[in-house]
This record gives sequence, C-alpha cells and structure tokens, in this order.
Amino acid sequence: MSIRQSVKSAVARSPAARRLQLSLWATTVRRDASASLDGRPDTEALRGVLRRVGRRPSDPAAQEWVPRLESHRATLLESKAPIRLTETAWRDASEVEVITVGEACARASKNAPSCLMLFDLIRTMRPQTCLEMGSSVGVSGSYLGAALKANGAGRLFTTEGQPDIAQTARETFRALDLDVVEVTTGMFDDTLPELAARVSPIDFAFIDGHHQEEPTRRYFEVLLPSMSPGGIMLFDDIAWSEGMRRVWAQIRQDSRVDVAVDLTTLGLVRLR
Ligand SMILES: C[S@@+](CC[C@H](N)C(=O)[O-])C[C@H]1O[C@@H](n2cnc3c(N)ncnc32)[C@H](O)[C@@H]1O
Repeated sequence: MSIRQSVKSAVARSPAARRLQLSLWATTVRRDASASLDGRPDTEALRGVLRRVGRRPSDPAAQEWVPRLESHRATLLESKAPIRLTETAWRDASEVEVITVGEACARASKNAPSCLMLFDLIRTMRPQTCLEMGSSVGVSGSYLGAALKANGAGRLFTTEGQPDIAQTARETFRALDLDVVEVTTGMFDDTLPELAARVSPIDFAFIDGHHQEEPTRRYFEVLLPSMSPGGIMLFDDIAWSEGMRRVWAQIRQDSRVDVAVDLTTLGLVRLR
C-alpha cells in the first residue's frame, strides 16, 4: 500500500481525524471556492451547491437517502470478503494482492461530505447522463445514482478496471435498488472511447481514477467530444502531484472551459 493510501485508510477509520479534515475542507470550499465565482451571475446554482458543502442537507431526498447510503458504506467497511487485485497498467505483477472489500472501501471511497456535494450537484443541475471513471466499490456512484433516482430521471454509467471491485460495485447498486446505474469493467483506455460515444451527450463526468498527468489530459480529450454544451466535469486529486497540478492548470485555462473552480482536492469545470 502506498503512503498516501495508508494515510487515507487511517483517516477513514479515525472518526476524530476525519471530522477535523472534512470540516476544514468544507469551510475552505464554502468560503474560497464560492467566492471565486463572484461576478458570474450564471453560476448562481453552482455557487449554491458550494455554499452548502458540509452543511446539514435541507433536501428531503438527501435526508432520506444519506442514512441508507452511509449505512451501506459501513457494511462495506466491515466486509472481510476478498478482492483479488489483478495486474494492470498501474500495478505490476509483483504487487498483485488480495485485500478485503473493507480495505478497498477505506482506501478509495470519497468521504461523506464530498459524496453529499455530489448528491447536491446532481439534484441541482439535473443532468440526464452521468459518467464516472473509477467506480471502486460503489460509494460515490451510489450517491450519484440516488440523486438521479430522486430527480426521477437520468442514468449513471460508471467504469472500473479491477473486475472484483467492479463486481462489488454492482452488488452495492443492487443492494440499494439503484437500477439507474450501469457498471462497465475494463481499463479506461479500453472502455472510455466506446462508452463515452455510446452514452453521449454526457452532462456530468466524474474523473476519479488514474490520477496522473498524461492519463488525465488524455481522458479530458477523449471525453470532450461526448460532453454536452454546459456539461460539468469534476476531477479528483488535482493537487496530489506536480503532474496533477500541471494538468489541472491547463484544463482550467482551456479555451473550451467556461467556468473552473478549485475545491482544493477536487477541480470542477463547466464547459462552453
Ligand atoms: C479513487 S477510486 C474511485 C472511488 C469511487 N469513485 C468512490 O469514491 O467511491 C479509483 C478507482 O479507479 C480504478 N482505476 C484506476 N485507474 C484505472 C484505469 N486506468 N482504468 C480503469 N480503472 C482504473 C481503481 O481500480 C479504483 O477502484
């Protein structure tokens, strides 16, 4: 396990550390990210989402769904079911290992306030077609899918390179009756071109896997022709490495991007 994964896993399992980290993040987003949109009246809805980050949701759909979604996350965290990680472009054969569903969930899943922000984004922007790169065990996808269900319209297409993990995500969506979610198994470079073209136009894309400079640039370019005008792309881990900082700086200044917001760890763009 990398140092980063160990820290993430430890924080995920320590309630006090997690609360502090998340409350700092939420405060920063509410204050700085929403202020960065001042002077753009056409971003009022988006600013509303950012101003609600870390707050108790007033949306009845969120009040109904969040306890169910977090209860399922708790079940996943407790699960000792094995996941065999296969060799991939980002793991070499010597690293192939078996972990538990609980470990996979603790290592990779977005935290509850970020997931709630995703839920709020979907409820507010009402996208018809959403795409997620990096299903993991289905935690962020279940928030996206639940928000689409609450909207009464829309579908989520999520893709994952590890077969055992993708299967766990499918079980998550089944357990939560989220029939609006479809999981594709395969490496992004193999699945994305066909998937993006098939489900186009995409109104919301969450890029939450393979956080490296060149792949992120490539995925941005592959997704762009399939995005709808005004579509939203959300990138995770934009500040993780020098390379990610570089690619995020380029994406946010791209001439095809209309609005870019820095949420410290996440970067959001709205396309022209
Ligand atoms: C950070 S996790 C996703 C977390 C998930 N969105 C959540 O919050 O519940 C990233 C996932 O992307 C997958 N992944 C990373 N690089 C990939 C690639 N090149 N192709 C396919 N899957 C990839 C990993 O196996 C991992 O499960």
